[in-house]
Amino acid sequence: MSKHHTYPIHFSLNGCTIDVEVGATQTLLELLRDKQHQWDVKLGCGKGDCGSCTVLLNDEPRLSCLVLAIQVDGAAITTVRGLGDAEHLHPLQEAFIQYGAVQCGFCTPGMLMTAKALLDRCPHPTRVQIREALAGNLCRCTGYQAVVDAIEAASRRHPQHGQTDQNMMATEMVDTGEEET
Ligand code: FES
Ligand code: FES
Repeated sequence: MSKHHTYPIHFSLNGCTIDVEVGATQTLLELLRDKQHQWDVKLGCGKGDCGSCTVLLNDEPRLSCLVLAIQVDGAAITTVRGLGDAEHLHPLQEAFIQYGAVQCGFCTPGMLMTAKALLDRCPHPTRVQIREALAGNLCRCTGYQAVVDAIEAASRRHPQHGQTDQNMMATEMVDTGEEET
């Protein structure tokens, strides 16, 4: 691959088909922000340390700063814009607002995408599982407690993520003694 060549790729972005030319060293984050104007995908560290650039790649959370654009040929990419909009918020978005899990908001898109992937594969996570899933998403504002509370609440609300009060009581008992950091 030449550094200056571009290559055609075809992928889905929040359900829309995209055909675009990408460079051999262009990252998915650069493609999304600079070419597709997806500024909801945040550029934090740019080297895989902060999680703010997290998107779903074929429903799996990925750090878009560490994925080459050319690697998403044929894939489905979901950003936080694909979760919901102001009139139709996703239960996770509603819970983040309700529980004060959004402060400056810089980490929030990445947090939401990580949380979405977690609830899709594990509809009833314990608080420990939520914290483990969020290990790669840094937040300098919230102290994480409100984020964990919000994800736990969303897991009870969403039809696909429904959790009964009985499940919740069991979860709280299992989580007793967890350190909140
Ligand atoms: S910008 Fe990708 S992990 Fe920080
Ligand atoms: S809300 Fe500010 S970095 Fe998380």
